[in-house]
Amino acid sequence: MAHHTHHHHASDDETGMAELLDLDAEVLHPLLTEMTALLEELAGDTPPRRILDLGSGTGAGTLALLQRFGEAEAVAVDASESMLLRLHEKARELGLADRIHTVQADLDDEWPPLDTVDLVWASASLHHLADPDRGLREIFAALRPGGLLAVLELDSFPRFLPEDLGFGRPGFEERCHAALAEQRGHDLPDLGSDWGPRLSRAGFAVKVERVFDVELTPPLPAAAGRYAEATLRRGGARLRGLLSPDDQAVLDALLDEGGPHHVLRRTDLTVRATRTAWVAGRP
Ligand SMILES: C[S@@+](CC[C@H](N)C(=O)[O-])C[C@H]1O[C@@H](n2cnc3c(N)ncnc32)[C@H](O)[C@@H]1O
Repeated sequence: MAHHTHHHHASDDETGMAELLDLDAEVLHPLLTEMTALLEELAGDTPPRRILDLGSGTGAGTLALLQRFGEAEAVAVDASESMLLRLHEKARELGLADRIHTVQADLDDEWPPLDTVDLVWASASLHHLADPDRGLREIFAALRPGGLLAVLELDSFPRFLPEDLGFGRPGFEERCHAALAEQRGHDLPDLGSDWGPRLSRAGFAVKVERVFDVELTPPLPAAAGRYAEATLRRGGARLRGLLSPDDQAVLDALLDEGGPHHVLRRTDLTVRATRTAWVAGRP
């Protein structure tokens, strides 16, 4: 696998994000399986051979797609070198490395030269772009006529906690989400966007829009507790200074590894997440 990178060390933020993405992929794996099955069905008798994963992160999508489409090769593009290194490692473990080419590029700049592909996958990445509509036009140009684009997006971060945690602060998680949503309105205005009309405006024909409501109850997959912890830790870092002192104390207790209230000690966690997928074709 060729690897073009600028060398720099992974920031704590990137490392935290990479862990979270890996846990996300593990806990929500059934969703990826369903998505790749849907793409297989839509592709009919011309399964994709050239795949482009934009904002690939640690490769959840790239790897699931290569496992589904045995004849395919993939190009994974991400701005983060450390994400791509992790993707490479995982691909090697799965014996898929020789079918993957990684490209480090910031998609807010000029796009790297990309060969025409049969399938573009963009999971939780479009909302990171400064101008996603321009991104959609670039994707359109990278697809062969008849090729497919799969967009997977989240409305918000997943939820894990019961309404009443037993600290006398019912509604804690909802207040965290409300504060995060308000902050995101500034930082990530395209999160939770309705991508269907935007895809149409970019020239695509939307074939499928599907909402995945994930609700996992105990017994949870082994990674679910760590997924909850990583999500709270990342969300918590963003929420610093935004929560009331009482809610901040709850958050600190949930993240205090040595303490009695650490989130991994709880037996009442669930996983609730909503993801929306759009599959569109280039006419
Ligand atoms: C939430 S993650 C999603 C990763 C992966 N697609 C998944 O579903 O697990 C968003 C990814 O987009 C990348 N990203 C954000 N802005 C980018 C940009 N301007 N150019 C390239 N990649 C970008 C980040 O580095 C990160 O890996």
